Amino acid sequence: MSVSEIAVHLDPGGLVHQLAGDVRTGLGSTPKVLPPKYFYDARGSELFDEITRLEEYYPTRAESQILHHRAAQVASLTGARTLVEIGSGTSEKTRLLLRALSAAGTLQQFIPFDVDPVVLQGASAAVAAEFPGVKVSPVVGDFERHLDKLPASPRRLMAFLGSTIGNLAPRQRAEFLTDVRRGLVTGDAFLLGLDLVKSPERLVAAYDDSRGVTAEFNKNVLAVINRQLDADFNLAAFEHVARWDREQEWIEMRLRSVRDQTVRISALDLDVAFGAGEEMRTEISAKFSHARISEELAAAGLRLTHWWTDPVGDFALTLSEPA
Ligand code: SAH
Ligand code: AVI
Repeated sequence: MSVSEIAVHLDPGGLVHQLAGDVRTGLGSTPKVLPPKYFYDARGSELFDEITRLEEYYPTRAESQILHHRAAQVASLTGARTLVEIGSGTSEKTRLLLRALSAAGTLQQFIPFDVDPVVLQGASAAVAAEFPGVKVSPVVGDFERHLDKLPASPRRLMAFLGSTIGNLAPRQRAEFLTDVRRGLVTGDAFLLGLDLVKSPERLVAAYDDSRGVTAEFNKNVLAVINRQLDADFNLAAFEHVARWDREQEWIEMRLRSVRDQTVRISALDLDVAFGAGEEMRTEISAKFSHARISEELAAAGLRLTHWWTDPVGDFALTLSEPA
């Protein structure tokens, strides 16, 4: 079998329209804020892939380690015929699940879902080549708006790996989990990867690496706005900041203006003033505990059935079912 035609629920025009609204609102707020989904144009996806290989960025390695040990168990517990992957990116770690589900003889269809069509196309082709018996049905969309557009499919395992759920604010996260629950029936399951609370030193290092790849990833959102909204952000006039918020238990990435400056966003006919030292929030990355996530899952009608961590307890992979 091969890759079916890519289903597009968010075309480039739609994404730019959404970006325009979010930039107008976010840069008009105090403090200024931008949503993290706009990091991921083709360059942003490449930079994230580079981040996953950095010495300081442990989450990808830790989650792979858990999947190595647990993928066969996930396959036998779920008997999944369809694997849906939300925020799939390169689907690199997902191969471990695909192999286990193929070996168990249940897998028929893989549905990767991402906002970036370029990364999605590459990942779909690679999966189709490795798993010729599996139907690959890629979907371009926004997981905060289009989960209900996923094609109907039997015996679903929905996977949301990499702790991407941590990039959603608590209220958005509750809405997202409710949407996931709506997409599941009895016999389906939800596999969720979560980065866990740990020492602030290690957390900050993971988001402020010595090679500056995360800094480039962070500034990429400015390059996206320059290109899509005809803006004139000078990337050199902003500094990357990563800070641990002890109370909220999340990392915040920010961009700090190095001087007083005004940025012109032509497509919005908007001039935005930044003061010297002013910080704009570009991402939160929440870190979890067993208690926090089991409560949030339960509030959305999901029951946590399995919790697996890597040996040092950096990261957790969880399996849940409709309650
Ligand atoms: N799951 C992979 C990739 C994580 S990076 C891993 O574990 O390594 C986050 C991924 O989510 C990116 O591929 C990005 O394009 C996608 N993404 C971010 N916001 C999104 C949104 N609102 N809707 C759909 N995909 C989104
Ligand atoms: C995709 N997401 C889970 C990453 C994270 O760790 O929050 C994005 C990222 N931001 C900086 N580095 C990686």
